[in-house]
Amino acid sequence: MIPSTKSARRLHGGVRGFAGALACIVLALATVAGACAQVESRRRGDPWRDEARFGIALAARPLVVAHRGSSGNWPENTVPALLAGVREGADLHEFDTFESAEGVPYLMHDRTLDRTTDADERLGRAAVAATGAELEFLGVLDAGAWKGPPHRGVRVPTLEEALNALGPGQTAMIERKDGRPEPILALLDRMGRMEFDVLQSFDWAWLAEVRALEPRVQLGALGSGPIDAQVLAKLEALDVDFVHWKHSDLDARVVGELRARGWVVGAYTIDDPTRQTELAAMGVDFLTTNEPGALVARQGAGSVLRSTPASAR
Ligand code: G3P
Ligand code: CA
Repeated sequence: MIPSTKSARRLHGGVRGFAGALACIVLALATVAGACAQVESRRRGDPWRDEARFGIALAARPLVVAHRGSSGNWPENTVPALLAGVREGADLHEFDTFESAEGVPYLMHDRTLDRTTDADERLGRAAVAATGAELEFLGVLDAGAWKGPPHRGVRVPTLEEALNALGPGQTAMIERKDGRPEPILALLDRMGRMEFDVLQSFDWAWLAEVRALEPRVQLGALGSGPIDAQVLAKLEALDVDFVHWKHSDLDARVVGELRARGWVVGAYTIDDPTRQTELAAMGVDFLTTNEPGALVARQGAGSVLRSTPASAR
């Protein structure tokens, strides 16, 4: 059951100012029932059958999510890693974002630039913060050399560059590590990708902010640890579309419970074929892996499939 406050928040999300609020009160009497029905129907839908959720059909196999691009063999969170994920047949392309000094979202995983760029060498000091780094500085960094000589000279992409590289046919799974919702949402809107790409975060307060601002975007809650009644209640209050959980904290009971409540369920980050097969048998909807090509190949060979084919449900 979706709390009525959530429906009201979605309904009022775009309203600004007193006049708008007054108009909304009148309109709300006529529309709130319809809005509630729409939200409830979305949440009650069987993820197997709800082909609109990730902009692609959910199939009789877990979808393959390329983690930070195809990061096993390519420098994570870069355009070459994303393009490798596309070539290898990943269904979605996960990456992480921070916000630059100018307010521009860009791709980076760690809170500092040290591990995956030469920022520390260039500045002659360690622990160079990712939050608030200047675009001009980010633009000259080498984000590939740490992965090996063949990747030398690869750049740190902005979110816009990453989405342009993926193109209109590939779904991005954007994990916000730090930064405001507005620049990400504005970009998705401008690029016509609001209902196509998906947004996720470990920061559930940030997810609530996003939902209040934008009812259209598909949102995912990242997490780890036991999923008890308290966690389920928090997830319900968030109104997210998918739950993306640490694979070692998932079992068949938990996956079944989450899916029965209408969420698409994913597991991160798993490269081991035996564990991938176990998770698929539990019914997870997507698997996040550093080696998407290997998982696509396993599925092509008939393994790592869902326990129950979509056609039989
Ligand atoms: O998308 C799930 C996974 O990326 C979360 O962990 O640390 O790799 O961002 P992390
Ligand atoms: Ca991530």
